[in-house]
Amino acid sequence: MNRPPLKRFYVKSFGCQMNGYDGERMSELLEAEGMIAAEDAATADLVVLNTCHIREKAAEKVYSEIGRLKRADGTSPMITLAGCVAQAEGAEVLARTKMVDIVVGPQAYHHLPELIRQAASGKVVDIDMPVESKFDKLPARKKVGPTAFLTVQEGCDKFCTYCVVPYTRGAEISRPFSRIINEAHALVDKGAREITLLGQNVNAWSGEDDAGRPQGLEGLIRALDKISGLERIRYMTSHPNDMSEGLIEAHGDIKKLMPFLHLPVQSGSNRILKAMNRAHTTESYLSLLQRLREVRPDIALSGDFIVGFPGETEQDFQETLDLISEVRYAMAFSFAYSPRPGTPAADMDNQIDQGVSKERLQRLQALLNTHQLEFNQQTIGRKTDILIERAGKKLGQMIGKSPWLQSVIIEAPVKIGDMVTVELSEAGPNSIRGRQTESVMA
Ligand code: SAH
Ligand code: SF4
Ligand code: F3S
Repeated sequence: MNRPPLKRFYVKSFGCQMNGYDGERMSELLEAEGMIAAEDAATADLVVLNTCHIREKAAEKVYSEIGRLKRADGTSPMITLAGCVAQAEGAEVLARTKMVDIVVGPQAYHHLPELIRQAASGKVVDIDMPVESKFDKLPARKKVGPTAFLTVQEGCDKFCTYCVVPYTRGAEISRPFSRIINEAHALVDKGAREITLLGQNVNAWSGEDDAGRPQGLEGLIRALDKISGLERIRYMTSHPNDMSEGLIEAHGDIKKLMPFLHLPVQSGSNRILKAMNRAHTTESYLSLLQRLREVRPDIALSGDFIVGFPGETEQDFQETLDLISEVRYAMAFSFAYSPRPGTPAADMDNQIDQGVSKERLQRLQALLNTHQLEFNQQTIGRKTDILIERAGKKLGQMIGKSPWLQSVIIEAPVKIGDMVTVELSEAGPNSIRGRQTESVMA
């Protein structure tokens, strides 16, 4: 097919923050090729859909997204399907739709410029997981706001029985210490004041510092702590089994490390945790949280939950509700179990009726919501800094994040990137109102 030269690109990312990070890196890569970012998909010559495979709904959505790229005059942009659906389905994508030109997996997207050249003469699929790291082949960081993501670890070796990530992202790897520190410096030089270290199991990160000493994630965080201009450090997502004592202690003594931890437990029933191959128990999980609260009493906790896993009884579900009531999460993500092709749980013969899962999910979310509001209410009256990230819905409103990752709305003449001292004054379920108490620390 003859196409005019590709000038404008549009990248749309779905799924987790790591996909978001990959999307930014793909944009930087295309810009380095001389292309420019389009406002939207409708005006782009090349559209990259950076997809998620985690649940059936997420994966199926991709095909309607593709369909929507067809234009009124019958033409469509060049379409690249990237991300985890690309990895999981590979060439099958081309059998399901004629509209896709390039299929590229999460470990191969540094090949994108070459794939675009090849696509001029036919469809291409690249779902290799090469030994060489894509990170070493990507151009320097360019797109940076006050808060930035930095992927430090990728892949997963845990093989929870419901999860596609070990198949779509591959084996667990840690990026080298010095590369991460260099990238952090580049982000801070370009204006980042907060960095969130990312990984499917970020707390499994391991490496060696410049002196050749072995380090865990806390060592990396301690090195980042020394970067002047970097004011806040966060990390996600962590697995309970990789939560070392050293990392817990870091929460007690590193001021830049924000008092927030996303530590998914998935279920409160040890029987279900075992069937999920989570390799932790509710008791081991709760004792981790106790240690964290000892070193950092105000730490806000967040989690992920799956309801309706095969074999889950009302009793198992009740145990999850009990665990939630004990922990009192500041926020949480919860999902009805979705059977994924190729995972062991999809073949278990005690699948739960979807109606039952939905009803349980509603009860679970109602409980989580009351705790989230409660947490927000408890913080009212606190004087704290917020980092302004974006404009609010109403004129004059600006939104920033508190150390506990709450969205705080203020009405004050501040700009994106300002660190502002506020008093938290009014709590809603999803946001807090703040009053500015001091002038801006630019
Ligand atoms: N690495 C992280 C999260 C990975 S995926 C961890 O181990 O916790 C994000 C969340 O999606 C998971 O925590 C889980 O709650 C949910 N999830 C994963 N597979 C799922 C499935 N098949 N059905 C429903 N939810 C799922
Ligand atoms: Fe998936 Fe489990 Fe790995 Fe998390 S730890 S990415 S849930 S397999
Ligand atoms: Fe989805 Fe892949 Fe992330 S499946 S959640 S985009 S690792």
